[in-house]
Amino acid sequence: ATRKPMVAGNWKMNGSLELVEQLANAIKNVQSDELDIVVFPPFPLISSLQQQNVVVGSQTVSENQAGAFTGEVDAQLIKDLGATYTLVGHSERRSIYGESDAVVADKFARAQHVGLTPILCVGESEEQREANETELVVAAQIDAVINKLGVAALKNSVVAYEPVWAIGTGKTASPEQAQAVHKFIREKIASADSDLAEQLTILYGGSVNEKNSELLFAQPDIDGGLIGGASLKAESFTAICESAK
Ligand code: G3H
Repeated sequence: ATRKPMVAGNWKMNGSLELVEQLANAIKNVQSDELDIVVFPPFPLISSLQQQNVVVGSQTVSENQAGAFTGEVDAQLIKDLGATYTLVGHSERRSIYGESDAVVADKFARAQHVGLTPILCVGESEEQREANETELVVAAQIDAVINKLGVAALKNSVVAYEPVWAIGTGKTASPEQAQAVHKFIREKIASADSDLAEQLTILYGGSVNEKNSELLFAQPDIDGGLIGGASLKAESFTAICESAK
């Protein structure tokens, strides 16, 4: 495919000013035109990472405009601080903070409105996979965005497929399992707009490490990864970046 690979590191609620230094230095050594590397630190670290010339994003954004929403962070401020991306609908946001498909679609819209590129996270739970509902669940998560904004909205976005059972469990999807869902997502979008589907970056996430990344990234519809735990270790993260080139 002509799509440029992407490796994204989601620090979740981890990190420190010290980790910014470490990771920024490590990333400098693997940065290249062939690969997009993006880091998603906690909000307070966005500026410091950006000042080290790392492409950054936030882990979520408010669906609301600035105002009386204590504890929330406005997408415009995130953009002003130098971020270019934001995750929306990460499974931890959906399961721990109760974000529905509709709220996720609102966040997606708000991010694009201020010029942040949303990375829409989708994926099924173990129960849903066992009930053969993987495609149903993933399709509904994507349709929530398409029904609100139209398929063209996916043009300036990235999709990340993260089976919930593979997140932080060490139980990664096999390259074949992941490829099957990525292909389903691309074909679903192609049925509405084939050029858009061909250009869309689709990342895999869920227990990606430096040992399994190469085979996952070699799959035709897997354009890179959304890395959690392994993105906190300079050696692992840079090895994963290398394997995506
Ligand atoms: O956003 C990242 C994913 O939730 C994957 O996390 O690599 O620790 O399994 P993990």
